[in-house]
Amino acid sequence: MSALSTPTAGPSHEEGPQPLLVGTGLVLDYGDLRVLDGVDFHVAPGEAVGIVGPNGAGKTTLLNALAGSVTPDQGSIRIEGRDVTALRPELRCRQGIGRAFQIPRPFGGMTVLENVLVGASFGTRLSRRATHRRCVEVLELCGLIDLANRRAEALGLLHRKRLELARSLATDPRVLLLDEIGGGLTDAEAAQLVTTIKSLRELGISIVWIEHIVHILVQVIDRLVCMDAGRVLAEGEPQAVLRDAHVVDAYLGRGSRD
Ligand SMILES: Nc1ncnc2c1ncn2[C@@H]1O[C@H](COP(=O)(O)OP(=O)(O)O)[C@@H](O)[C@H]1O
Ligand SMILES: [Mg+2]
Repeated sequence: MSALSTPTAGPSHEEGPQPLLVGTGLVLDYGDLRVLDGVDFHVAPGEAVGIVGPNGAGKTTLLNALAGSVTPDQGSIRIEGRDVTALRPELRCRQGIGRAFQIPRPFGGMTVLENVLVGASFGTRLSRRATHRRCVEVLELCGLIDLANRRAEALGLLHRKRLELARSLATDPRVLLLDEIGGGLTDAEAAQLVTTIKSLRELGISIVWIEHIVHILVQVIDRLVCMDAGRVLAEGEPQAVLRDAHVVDAYLGRGSRD
């Protein structure tokens, strides 16, 4: 079911809020380097979770594991209780996991609309007509409708970031994984991005957002996770996590501007 066409909260669970996406005991090594060292992570339907941590903490790798572009050496990933640990990214996408990358990768020679159509045909099994309609909705939501016929390579940074978001939204995600999409934007542009992401929340889409720019993040999230050296250092109410002495030491005290 399309989250865009059903502006309500996520699936209801009589027995309580069953998490939408769960990673349990995730361990991942690159050679001798343990990049994920027993990470437990979850996001509930409609919830927005922020992830912060110093460079090299394993944040992007965690997103890769959730999206299926890497397979953990240990641990499991479940969507609404179904084990998807071995499922390929494109099949996970069809289960409702959407992804926006730190570096937008549009097809430069295609128009904005064509780029979003590619995303839509990747993630959903709608008819051509419904797919087209959906893409127009997504472009409106992301403030790109007036640029629909512009070639992607002609877009500035803000619009390329919006297009990256639009492409992932076109896959009809129930949970959207965002990796540092705020970087490089002016304050005014970042504020627009926050407004767009808040509007996605209102559609019931869960958000997992890695972001260095903490003051943007806290405007959107319900819960904050701080990672360091492949582990979850602290998690909970965002302001409480940001005050946590370990977080201050590991993250905010050093390297937060890189
Ligand atoms: N494909 C890879 N091969 C080898 N090492 C990698 C690979 N991807 C990431 N790493 C290493 O894993 C660690 C965590 O990386 P990453 O998840 O990108 O951290 P973050 O997103 O928190 O900055 C870093 O030391 C990084 O160099
Ligand atoms: Mg990263």
